[in-house]
Order: sequence, then structure tokens, then C-alpha cells
Amino acid sequence: MAWDLIDTAELVGGELALYRQGDRSSGEVFMIRVNGLELMNGFGHQSETVLGEMAVAVAKVSAPHILIGGLGLGYTLAATAAALKGAGRITVAELSPKVIEWFDRYVSASVLPERPLNLAIVPGDIGAFIRGKDVGPFDVIVLDVDNGPEALVSPQNAHLYSAEGLHAFAAKLSPNGVILLWSAFEAPDFVVLAEGAGFAVSATALAAVRRPDLLHYAYVLEHDFGSRQKSR
Ligand SMILES: C[S@@+](CC[C@H](N)C(=O)[O-])C[C@H]1O[C@@H](n2cnc3c(N)ncnc32)[C@H](O)[C@@H]1O
Repeated sequence: MAWDLIDTAELVGGELALYRQGDRSSGEVFMIRVNGLELMNGFGHQSETVLGEMAVAVAKVSAPHILIGGLGLGYTLAATAAALKGAGRITVAELSPKVIEWFDRYVSASVLPERPLNLAIVPGDIGAFIRGKDVGPFDVIVLDVDNGPEALVSPQNAHLYSAEGLHAFAAKLSPNGVILLWSAFEAPDFVVLAEGAGFAVSATALAAVRRPDLLHYAYVLEHDFGSRQKSR
């Protein structure tokens, strides 16, 4: 079946586009492309769903505050909300206001029909958001803004995966907080960088739906900067 173009959104140096197959009565599935490349597809969201479940599983507290970047088609958000069962809080940072509009208007009916009361969706770059005053602390920060720790959606995203970018996230983690990063590929160079920046890194391979030959990865980054600061 062909994908129908629903809408486009301008990005710095590019374009996002929302596509749909099917309709509400027969069942609809959405896809987001960035500059013509598939970013997220509703047929293959298994690993994004597992990422949301992992976000709650890796939290060291029972009612965590979880920051998710970005929204996409909302599968990670929906899985996080389901696993939290109303406990804790979820903040989503999404670069494109249009993606938020698409989610509310087209996508949420099939992905997250009931908006959780503990959810806030904030438009804008997660890298800028995390540096804001009075932001955090977060028990878990989930990063799924590109296809892995390499800039795809915006050239500015490269900064998120630098030592300085990771330290900016770590500064807004609670003392036992963790960063969870989704990747479509194994990223050994990123692991070396993150370990060099003071994080303990572990990776979990995630099965990708409909592609038994394909694995996605969740990188868990833990830091002890908070506890070091506390013990001083
Ligand atoms: C791969 S999709 C996320 C998929 C999502 N996990 C899901 O379950 O559908 C990436 C999303 O991150 C957003 N994004 C890209 N760069 C961002 C940034 N710097 N800050 C916040 N959101 C960003 C994109 O607009 C897009 O909506």
C-alpha cells in the first residue's frame, strides 16, 4: 500500500514529513520522514516501545520523573505512560511544534488515546531545554531524537552526543539517574566517548519488528557525578 503525504514541517536545513497508510475505520499507520529518509514508522515500533518500558525499569525510584526527547509517533511515550500507571511524571521535549500538532491531531487516537495527567509536552530543542533554569532533576532521560548518537534530524544535534552535551544532561539527573539512548546501529565510538566523559555504559540489543535480521540498541549511561558532589 502506498503512503499518503499528510503534511510537512520546516526544520533548520531540512524538512519533516508525515505520511499515512489506511484510515481510522480500517486502521491507520503513520510514518515520519526527515529530508526523505524514514525517521519513524508505525509498522516497526517494537524497539521504541521497549525503550519506553526500559525507561521505567531502569529508574531507581518508584515514581520517577522521566524526560523523553523527542515525541515522534509517541510509541516510547505511550509505553512509558503504560509502565508508570499514573505514577511519577513524564516530560517530552520535541523540536518541531508540527510533530506535536500531528500527534494531537492524527496519531494519538491510535497510539495514546487517553492523555496521561502526569504528561507535559514541551516544544523545542532538548539540548536547550536541559540547560534551562528550574529544569529537572530527572530520574531518567530518554534520547531518541535521531537514528542513534549521530545528528540526522538537525546538524545541531551532534552537540547532544558530545562530552559537553552529555554532561549537560547529567547535570539535570537525580543522583542515581540514568540516560537511555536509542540507536538503530551499534555505536562503539560513542561508547568510547561516553566512557571517556565519565559514564558507565551498557548496551542492550532490541529486536526490530518485521526484520529478524535487524537489531536496534538501547545504551544505558550511568554517572556518579551527583553522588560525588554529595559526598564532598
Ligand atoms: C525517531 S523520532 C522519535 C520516535 C519516538 N521514540 C517514537 O516512539 O515514535 C525523533 C523525534 O525527535 C525529534 N527531535 C529531533 N531533534 C530533536 C531535538 N534536538 N530536541 C527535541 N526533539 C528532537 C524529531 O522531530 C522527532 O519527532
